[in-house]
Amino acid sequence: MNNILLCGFMGCGKTTVGKRLAALTGREYIDLDREIELEAGMTIPELFEQFGEQEFRDREHAAVAALARRIGCIVSTGGGAMTFPRNVAAVSPDDRVVFLDTPFEICYERIKDSDRPIVRRSTPDELRKLFETRRAAYRAAASVILPGDDTAEDLALRLF
Ligand code: S3P
Repeated sequence: MNNILLCGFMGCGKTTVGKRLAALTGREYIDLDREIELEAGMTIPELFEQFGEQEFRDREHAAVAALARRIGCIVSTGGGAMTFPRNVAAVSPDDRVVFLDTPFEICYERIKDSDRPIVRRSTPDELRKLFETRRAAYRAAASVILPGDDTAEDLALRLF
């Protein structure tokens, strides 16, 4: 059984859909950001603050590469993960990468007041530009693309 990785912009619904899909399928759920936090012994905002983004990206890469030792898991990746070629290359060819293509306005409403470091350091305009650039990368990395403005339940059912 292969892993299913959910990717897409911050706030696109990766975590909600991932948990729902895991519940439907009985498969193990992995939140890659939580794994990074556990491993680092600190939160992602703390990691960015104390060690900088590059340290976080290196840890993120190690977490993606470690998925090669897991099978049958439902994985939500962080919003940056599938935009880096080294991470896409580290995904097993047997795994399925699903892009939740949720409109920027929906993502933005969900993330604008959060403590995500990328959100805190960016203007709304910068976030919109980042969204557009990353969208091309998600599309290239994904083998399945779902319009993310459906309910989490419907999206999970479509992947079931
Ligand atoms: C990031 C997204 C976050 C987290 C980190 C960096 C990004 O994950 O990995 O703050 O670069 O977009 P979510 O997409 O789950 O918010």
